[in-house]
Amino acid sequence: MKEQIEAIQAEALARIEAATEPRALEDARVAVLGKKGTLTEVSAGMRDVPKEDKALIGALLNTARTAITTALETKQSALQEVADRKALEGIDLTLPGRAVHHGSLHPLTILRHQAISILRRMGFALAEGPEIEDEFHCFDALNTPADHPARNEKDTFYFDSGKLLRTHTSSVQIRTMEAQPPPVRIIAPGSAYRRDEIDATHLSVFNQLEGLYVDRDVSLGDLKGTLEYFFRELFGSETEVRFRPHFFPFTEPSFEIDVKLHAKGQAPRWIEVAGCGMVDPAVFTSLNAGRKDDAYNPDKVTGFAFGMGLDRLAMIRWGIKDIRLLIENDTRFLKQFA
Ligand code: DAH
Repeated sequence: MKEQIEAIQAEALARIEAATEPRALEDARVAVLGKKGTLTEVSAGMRDVPKEDKALIGALLNTARTAITTALETKQSALQEVADRKALEGIDLTLPGRAVHHGSLHPLTILRHQAISILRRMGFALAEGPEIEDEFHCFDALNTPADHPARNEKDTFYFDSGKLLRTHTSSVQIRTMEAQPPPVRIIAPGSAYRRDEIDATHLSVFNQLEGLYVDRDVSLGDLKGTLEYFFRELFGSETEVRFRPHFFPFTEPSFEIDVKLHAKGQAPRWIEVAGCGMVDPAVFTSLNAGRKDDAYNPDKVTGFAFGMGLDRLAMIRWGIKDIRLLIENDTRFLKQFA
């Protein structure tokens, strides 16, 4: 039995020595130490070894097992080292790493978040409506007559079905009041669409933010205070704000709001940032007809509304000269807002 053990050990060590890849090494291990391995089988023979020889044979078996196991481990790490070296061949570990570029918020997103946060502090809740609208919600319910230029095919994207891409977010005023009685205090940021010639100040898709506040005793003073506060929060507490009489079909009286722009190297000038006004009673009357109730009784409730272009506000805020920069996604431009 002694010779047998020595022979197994010698053969195993030779096989391990000769192994040049992990697979061969594993085969060698299984052949000797596996369940049916040669050494395992010999070990099973211990049962029949006479008592006086047991110690000697046992020691021999242990020595063989230890020698083989050690040889397996040594060879395994040697093979691993070769594999590692191969994997790294041709790789220069001293090269500087590649920087991970962090994304950042788009300027329009930053501005929209700021605008929403200022108005929410004043109690305005977010509302929304569809971008594919019908003429009723976009125009008729907003007291806009059929011959109004905004309804022109040249200015508005119409679908064959007669629906259209909303030309302003004011339609959300109507959708909100249809769905709930006063008091209403909402803002609706969202896209609007016009068939404009694209240039430095016009895109056919742009971003607006609509506001509506209807309750008992809402006054022009409330409108003025709310929007002055808004623009001063957005552009700085020193910002001058001016209300200029204007006309919108759905408000009476109506105003355009200008803020005074102090651009570097330019004489200060007024620039238009929003439209607003007191909700025209005709809007309330037509709403009641649709709702079949008197919730928006023009003798009992009043309201103000406003709408502003977020792209324009972003351009003013950061001195952006061309609106197209906002949609081109040139990272050299976007990086500046990180
Ligand atoms: N919808 C108007 C536009 O797109 C802006 C506007 C003016 C909205 C007056 C209003 C408002 O709510 O009261 O030009």
